[in-house]
Amino acid sequence: MTSDSSSLTDTDHTPGPPPGCPAHHLGPGGLQRLYGPDAQDLGDLYERLREQHGTVAPVLLHEDVPMWVVLGHAENQHLVRSPSLYTRDSRIWSPLADGTVKPDHPLMPHIAWQPICSHAEGDEHQRLRAAVTAAMTTIDHRTLRRHIGLHTQAMVNRFCERGRADLVSQFADHLPMAVMCEILGMPEEYNDRMVQAARDALKGTETAIQSHTYVMDALSRLTTRRRARPEEDFTSHLVTHPAGLSDDEVREHLRLVLFAAYEATANLLANALRMVLTEPGFRARLSGGQMTVPEAIEQSLWDEPPFSTVFGYYAKQDTELGGQRIRKGDGLLFAPAPGNLDPRIRPDLSASMQGNRSHLAFGGGPHECPGQDIGRAIADVGVDALLMRLSDIQLDCPEGELRWRSSIASRHLVALPVRFEPKPQQDVTLPPRPMAVPAQRSTWQAGTLRTEQTPAAEPRPTTPPPAAPEPHPTAPVPARRRGILRRLLHWWRGE
Ligand code: HEM
Repeated sequence: MTSDSSSLTDTDHTPGPPPGCPAHHLGPGGLQRLYGPDAQDLGDLYERLREQHGTVAPVLLHEDVPMWVVLGHAENQHLVRSPSLYTRDSRIWSPLADGTVKPDHPLMPHIAWQPICSHAEGDEHQRLRAAVTAAMTTIDHRTLRRHIGLHTQAMVNRFCERGRADLVSQFADHLPMAVMCEILGMPEEYNDRMVQAARDALKGTETAIQSHTYVMDALSRLTTRRRARPEEDFTSHLVTHPAGLSDDEVREHLRLVLFAAYEATANLLANALRMVLTEPGFRARLSGGQMTVPEAIEQSLWDEPPFSTVFGYYAKQDTELGGQRIRKGDGLLFAPAPGNLDPRIRPDLSASMQGNRSHLAFGGGPHECPGQDIGRAIADVGVDALLMRLSDIQLDCPEGELRWRSSIASRHLVALPVRFEPKPQQDVTLPPRPMAVPAQRSTWQAGTLRTEQTPAAEPRPTTPPPAAPEPHPTAPVPARRRGILRRLLHWWRGE
């Protein structure tokens, strides 16, 4: 199998065809560039590469740096599940080690090694990841879902009377940030500026460094506060975990969690809502009860994984993958988008994947996404609650006018304009309770939650009125609150 195959380092780096030639987009060695004007539709490009090279294809990244992109489902799984063959530590990547890739390479933010669990392996990976996953297990999922539902209601309140909205900038980009700020323990930092800063930092515009600094300053303040006085939230559990993370490590992991969660979940929400609005069969199955919202979200994770590719995996020794000779130090892109469309597992792309969760959207192996239940919860509850409130929602532009901003790593819907009959506001009081339970108690029980009050998290364009204090969980519920809770319960049950 390997005898006829190519190797990235064997590639003949002769100059490409002259300008004007139809093959001009090909780079040195006749390799396909994964960037530039001819890589606008990466989905199409991956399929051409699959036809040409099979399940693992040699490509060129910016500045014509060679890389493999893994297109097969089984090959992607093998890649992430073989830590003895592949590592996420980019310091062994040949083009970086030999100086071909310079520190100012445009993809450096994805590639540069950092002291975080995503780039660590072995004992160090276990130390860092143990702290992250332990902090996640303290999150009470019932309270989490309640917060997501109430944030959704508060966000819908901001546009429901207008009868029009953009579900990307007014909903999908906001909900994950609101929820993540609460999980981390900084609900007061959630506002329009934080959402814009995170989006800007991820886009890599001229103001990206400034925006990144804005987010990091908030995370630094949070780390310092929780080091001095731990509370019941994700950050405090990270700070106090026996793994003994330094302040820098805590801050870097907060950044990892905030950005990974925000970007991926915002994409998932936008993709799933787009599917509901533009694919009539999909919506009919949802409203007819043949498909639940969680099943719709899972289908979206198959068809449009929020991260199309993940940088990167690096070969620790000479090996073989999908018939290609992989040399020690070669780089490989883990690629959920083409992997999920592998014709060997999906001969008919229109067939429903209901009940099958073996997609690659959350990765796999030692680095498999530890936040997938949180990402799923935000998408499930958010989409369900939004569709319940705005049941007559329609796309407000021709489908062909929808635009995406694409990079190698992800594909982000720019806007999703919708219209609906104007609706009245709904009474929503965001609960100021923390979502984490004290470390020693693994299950939720009334009375285990902190009762100190913090202001409501939902930002308002003008000065918000102070939130009504949340009663102790065991205190009698006032009559007006009972009415709200009853209405919420009816809404939750879809009555
Ligand atoms: C729909 C939402 C999400 C998707 C699609 C997603 C996807 C992914 C993927 C593909 C990876 C890389 C796996 C690999 O390297 O093989 C990853 C890693 C990670 N994700 Fe997520 N993620 C989502 C939500 C979240 C959330 C909500 C959190 C935190 C609350 C989170 C935290 C992390 C962390 C900490 C890692 C690094 C794990 C490690 O390297 O050991 N993710 N995620």
